[in-house]
Amino acid sequence: MINVLFVCLGNICRSPIAEGVFRHLVEKAGLSHQIQCDSAGTSSYHIGSLPDRRMRQVALQNGVELTHKGRKLSGDDFYNFDYIVAMDEANFEDIRNQSYRSSGFYFPEDRLYLYREFDPERADALNVPDPYYEDIAVFDEVYQIVERCGASFLTFIIEKNQLQS
Ligand code: 4NP
Repeated sequence: MINVLFVCLGNICRSPIAEGVFRHLVEKAGLSHQIQCDSAGTSSYHIGSLPDRRMRQVALQNGVELTHKGRKLSGDDFYNFDYIVAMDEANFEDIRNQSYRSSGFYFPEDRLYLYREFDPERADALNVPDPYYEDIAVFDEVYQIVERCGASFLTFIIEKNQLQS
């Protein structure tokens, strides 16, 4: 089983939608028995909370139900997950630093990614925008971004691990 963890700041907007959409893509590809995913936040602001109401609404409009409960990234995650995917550069740095503090090693570079590296339409953007203080249009944009990234990240995981459905 390959385990993928999506990480943002609050674990109520970007990483839960990334998780929900990626799981949906994995199911459609018939790979649920080989790939699992989860999400977490670098902060403890929203532990135990459902995703933001606006994010759940946009997800539902696209046929994805989000039921994740917010949790904070933990030291165990660096052992339990094969791939960790950051939504923005601040999350990426926080993940790296936390991995070093908790284990004495940086999480390997070939297993830690910025999600927009996989966005075929990213131009030079590196971050999934933080929608929390924005209006609903940004939540829609986040959905579109994680859908594009999810499709190409899944292809990448399939090829890297030589998976077959
Ligand atoms: P997320 O968005 O990192 O995509 O879950 C945020 C959610 C909450 C906060 C910031 C960003 N906050 O400051 O509470």
